[in-house]
Formats: sequence, structure tokens, C-alpha cells
Amino acid sequence: MIKFSASILAADLSNLKSEIQRVEPFIDEIHLDIMDGHFVPNLTFAYPILDAVKKCTNLPIDAHLMVTNPEFHVEKLIKLGVDKITIHIETSNHIHKLITQIKNADIQAFITLNPGTPLNTLEEIISDVDGVLIMSVNPGFSGQKFIAKSLEKIKKLKEWKMKYGMDYLISVDGGINSENIQTVVNAGADILIMGYGIFKNEQLEDLSKAYRK
Ligand code: DX5
Ligand code: ZN
Repeated sequence: MIKFSASILAADLSNLKSEIQRVEPFIDEIHLDIMDGHFVPNLTFAYPILDAVKKCTNLPIDAHLMVTNPEFHVEKLIKLGVDKITIHIETSNHIHKLITQIKNADIQAFITLNPGTPLNTLEEIISDVDGVLIMSVNPGFSGQKFIAKSLEKIKKLKEWKMKYGMDYLISVDGGINSENIQTVVNAGADILIMGYGIFKNEQLEDLSKAYRK
């Protein structure tokens, strides 16, 4: 079953609680984009916002770390009670250690990679993670255009999964909308992370119903 994850970066943050409650019936997870202004050219949420989100919903929370020092944040995120931590392969020389730390805390560990990073960089870690997130935009902002080449990566990941009998989930983040959603699902996505596609979508109920089946 396809899952919807709502990236609150595209929500009206002055009404965060009502925004979350408005989309809650149609989604499965909240996606929190944590950016540090170093790894990506934008600054976003930190721990107080995570606390606030937790007070607004019981849905699982995915912390997408777009920071140069993920090792500074993993412990704290675990303590604050996120359900999944997603780390960029480009950001640590100690990916195995971090993934192990997350898994030992009984939290889902996802690995992700920028559009310009080849899939084969995941070779050593892929059997240890719960999922792989394919970035279909260059990280930093909501509302960007889907990079069509990402579809090849999604298909290849799906192929590997079948060929080697692995069970990681495939998640896709960036630029997904009502027009390209079918192609993304057909390519092999299990989880669709959407900012604009959820918070600025008048037909969210229909879309969610159609893809949750
Ligand atoms: C981009 C973020 C995405 C983004 C998705 O750096 O990681 O999660 O908020 O937003 P849309 O769906 O609007 O591209
Ligand atoms: Zn994200």
C-alpha cells in the first residue's frame, strides 16, 4: 500500500496545528525537513518545532536531516521521540555507525542521496536500512520541479530489491504532484513525500483515496 508523507515545509506555518489537522485524514506520516544552512542553502526547523508538531498529531514523524553533522543530532532526535530518521549518504564518514545507532533505538533508519549522487554509493549500507529515499529535487526548498531522471533511480532500486531479495522501502521526495504521481508509483515508490502536492492540493482527498488502495 502506498503511503503519503506530508512535508510541513509547504504548510502555512502561522497555522501549523490546523494545517496538520486539515490533511491528517489523508496522510500516514509527517515529514520534517531539518536544514542547517550548510549542507543546503536554507534554514528550517529544529527541536522546538518538532515538539510543537508532536503536540498537534499522533502520526509518525520522519526527521529528514539535511545537515553537515548528522551525528550531532541523532541522539537528541531519538530522545524527542521521532519514528524515523533519514540521513544523507553525503553527510557522514560514519554512516554505518549512525544507522546502527538509530536501529538500536528501535527507530526506522532511512538513507537518502542527492540527485547528483550515484546509487552505487549505497552498496555497503543498503542491507542495513529500513528504506532508501530518492531525492527527486536538489534539497533545500519545497515547490521545485521533479527531476525526471530520478525515475531511473527508483526503477533500479526496485530491480535490486527483487533481484537480491531485500525488503527496504522506497521513498521519493520532491516535486511530486497530481500529474506525475502515477509515474512515480509505477516506477516503484512505496512512500510519497509531498509538500505542495499535499498542502496546496484541493483534490487531496481523491488523490489519497486512489493511491492508498
Ligand atoms: C526538499 C525537501 C522536501 C520538500 C518537498 O529539500 O526535502 O521534503 O519539502 O516539497 P515539495 O513536494 O513541494 O517538493
Ligand atoms: Zn524532505
